Amino acid sequence: MKPPPRPKLEIHKGDNLAVLRGFPAASFDLIYIDPPFNTGRSQRRRALSTVRDEAGDRTGFRGERYRTVELRVRAFRDSFDDYLAFLAPRLEEARRLLTPTGSLFVHLDAREVHYVKVLLDGLFGRECFQNEIVWAYDYGARTKRRWAPKHDTILWYSNDPERYTFHYDAIDRIPYLAPKLVGPEKAARGKTPTDVWWNTIVSPTGAEKTGYPTQKPLAILERIVRVHSSPGDRLLDFFAGSGSFGHAALKAGRECVLVDQSAQAMAVMARRLADGKPRFIGWSPRKTTKLMSGVRKRPIRS
Ligand SMILES: C[S@@+](CC[C@H](N)C(=O)[O-])C[C@H]1O[C@@H](n2cnc3c(N)ncnc32)[C@H](O)[C@@H]1O
Repeated sequence: MKPPPRPKLEIHKGDNLAVLRGFPAASFDLIYIDPPFNTGRSQRRRALSTVRDEAGDRTGFRGERYRTVELRVRAFRDSFDDYLAFLAPRLEEARRLLTPTGSLFVHLDAREVHYVKVLLDGLFGRECFQNEIVWAYDYGARTKRRWAPKHDTILWYSNDPERYTFHYDAIDRIPYLAPKLVGPEKAARGKTPTDVWWNTIVSPTGAEKTGYPTQKPLAILERIVRVHSSPGDRLLDFFAGSGSFGHAALKAGRECVLVDQSAQAMAVMARRLADGKPRFIGWSPRKTTKLMSGVRKRPIRS
């Protein structure tokens, strides 16, 4: 007897490390993640030294008395060390889960991207690094003390340096900055974007907004799904949040697995992705009517 068809959309609630370890190797063709910066486990690490002091609390060489002094507290660095320690085993799992021609996209901001790039170079090999995509936006307040930071960075690594999915013809076209310089035919067709993608943030008042903090624009994720996956592929986002990547996958008709540990994220996804008839694991949509109020349900159209 044939096994029943796999659901198009599966949503797991739980710590992603445990969930990822339950998947067999090479089971995803495209993985996108947008991890949080702060793991919530920042620690204060103290550097200590000792000085001679008759009233000190420690006895040292030749019975001399010593007192302990604190040289510095490195709270920021410690929280940073924690972040990489948090991310590293999850990135190792991502590599294990990629099919031979699969790709990983890691969405970060300027604070941590360089450290994660070094980590990923070590994990995949520098030859598997394909692109640093800069998502540039132009919204919100601007500091007067330095250049206003208005971009995120998305690192693309392929499992194999030569064989990977890149559907050039599926890239959307954008207008030329100076259309008169290229002639009417080219101007009408538009050009392909470079590795700098201009796209507005999710509008705080627009229809796309789910109310989930850190929600990423659908247009960015649709571009990744269209260009880096094919029909029949299986996709994964294990920091799913409001389910933006799952939404893009459903619109393109791809099978997708989403993971998040937050009940709020589950409630938002249950409402947002209802058209995909998701199968929930570790969570039930029935218990959460309260959490779901205020999240708009929308049909998913490709
Ligand atoms: C930056 S948000 C993702 C936003 C998402 N890209 C969107 O467009 O809505 C990061 C998500 O990671 C989740 N998260 C953080 N640590 C996690 C863990 N260990 N396991 C599963 N989810 C985690 C948080 O609950 C949060 O929803």
